[in-house]
Amino acid sequence: MSALFEIENLRVALPDFTRKPLFGPPPRNEILRDLSFTIGRGEAIGIVGESGSGKTTLGRTLVRLLEPSGGSIKFDGADISHLDDEAMAPYRRNLQVIFQNPLSSLNPRKTVAQIIAAPLRLHGVANGRQALADHAANALRMVGLSPDLGRRYPQELSGGQRQRVGIARAIALKPSFVLADEIVSGLDMSSQAQILDLLARLKEEMNLTLAFISHDLSVVRRLCERVMVMRQGEIVELRTCAEMFAGPEHPYTQQLLAAIPLPEIDPQWLSQT
Ligand SMILES: Nc1ncnc2c1ncn2[C@@H]1O[C@H](COP(=O)(O)OP(=O)(O)O)[C@@H](O)[C@H]1O
Ligand SMILES: [Mg+2]
Repeated sequence: MSALFEIENLRVALPDFTRKPLFGPPPRNEILRDLSFTIGRGEAIGIVGESGSGKTTLGRTLVRLLEPSGGSIKFDGADISHLDDEAMAPYRRNLQVIFQNPLSSLNPRKTVAQIIAAPLRLHGVANGRQALADHAANALRMVGLSPDLGRRYPQELSGGQRQRVGIARAIALKPSFVLADEIVSGLDMSSQAQILDLLARLKEEMNLTLAFISHDLSVVRRLCERVMVMRQGEIVELRTCAEMFAGPEHPYTQQLLAAIPLPEIDPQWLSQT
């Protein structure tokens, strides 16, 4: 079976408005340079690297919120590199994103149930008041929240609950791919662990393919089969978690690993995977 994503020689250049001349277009910065890799079906791939290394740009390009300036992205066998909005529409349901900051990505004037129902209606997954309510309630249960929470507003929830709502909104569509960009960064350790366990469970139950972006290798280790280490828009290493934690090849990865607090490195971890 082919990979879900096949990325070849991917390049992304974005306009740099800080250097825009008075007339004419701004110059473009090369943000991603010549990335080639695959993501298997049902695989969770971690994307790590220091701030500014291009993780978010890569994630946004995978789900085609950004267009590549070179190379190609194949999703489920189809080249989606340069599809316009209309041509992308059939793929959108399968390419879901959980955002870093749920407070800014969840509309404060909508109830939780409305927030989860909106994409369901948009993608024609459910129609009619009752069907939408049922789907939303079900999605809330799947992320371990009471359906009663559907009547509340995002700002009335805790940080962990809000992040679960973001996950519920993404998985309600039963997508094949979910991008999670730094989704546990703002949470305390115990909420982080709960969210990671939840994602691991959903991945198994729904056969999700996940790209999990984090600047923290210890977080990635809990969830992902492979880790991609990025620096300055390039892939430094891409290996299984087991290999990576047994001994990273690249000095940059060694530095990232050294930044993990020592008690986090549990000697049993390798034998568990
Ligand atoms: N919309 C944009 N336009 C121009 N440059 C951008 C844009 N977004 C990010 N960048 C630049 O791209 C580089 C990578 O950013 P980003 O993908 O956000 O990295 P990360 O998520 O790893 O912190 C940074 O140098 C950043 O300044
Ligand atoms: Mg980022």
